Amino acid sequence: MAKNKFNQNWLHDHINDPYVKLAQKEGYRARAVYKLKEINESEKLIKPGHIIVDLGATPGSWSQYARNQLSGKVGGGISGEIFALDMLPMEPIADVQFMLGDFREQKVLELLESRLLGRKVDVVLSDMAPNLSGIPSADAARMEDIIELAIEFSKAHLKLSGCLLVKCFHGPAYNSVWHRFKSEFNTVSSKKPKASRDKSSEIFILGRGLKLS
Ligand SMILES: C[S@@+](CC[C@H](N)C(=O)[O-])C[C@H]1O[C@@H](n2cnc3c(N)ncnc32)[C@H](O)[C@@H]1O
Repeated sequence: MAKNKFNQNWLHDHINDPYVKLAQKEGYRARAVYKLKEINESEKLIKPGHIIVDLGATPGSWSQYARNQLSGKVGGGISGEIFALDMLPMEPIADVQFMLGDFREQKVLELLESRLLGRKVDVVLSDMAPNLSGIPSADAARMEDIIELAIEFSKAHLKLSGCLLVKCFHGPAYNSVWHRFKSEFNTVSSKKPKASRDKSSEIFILGRGLKLS
């Protein structure tokens, strides 16, 4: 009964959510696009010519947005490349190279690396979040693990001037993720875009410019 009420409330909020309506109107697959859009508009992360990696990309609104940022004109191709990865399938997006797999698996990481052909990346985006168990310490550990993998990937493949944007949650993982970012990036900031629901503990961490090790 309580669960049913929760579902009804969620559905009510979802249907009346202005970002859901805007996403439908503008042809984006998820309201999540407006989180990236707000951050990108203030930080100017994505520019034509960039190589972008989108981790946890499905259903694809961040890739759609990144694609639009790389495109010169409507209907034309793009300047740059986008590599998207998710453990769930994604409907194709023109000019976006999708890989299906779990980023925690070595063979999936190697597949992504092989597609880069040694080229350095400008922007790594990660909207990945583990399935939550409800046990705060276990969920924090999983979140930290997945973010650590994104940091390690960035250290190996980002340009020195590149950036990494990850989703995190306020809670036990936040401080240690923040300190990891501080030790690897020149500039670190946290972002709570308006499209991120107030009741969600979600917060994004942005690292810009890799520190020389
Ligand atoms: C919030 S959704 C991403 C939404 C996406 N940014 C968009 O705008 O459409 C998070 C995604 O992360 C993916 N994910 C979580 N853990 C993952 C992992 N270990 N490897 C690959 N994908 C993962 C999930 O399958 C899910 O599709």
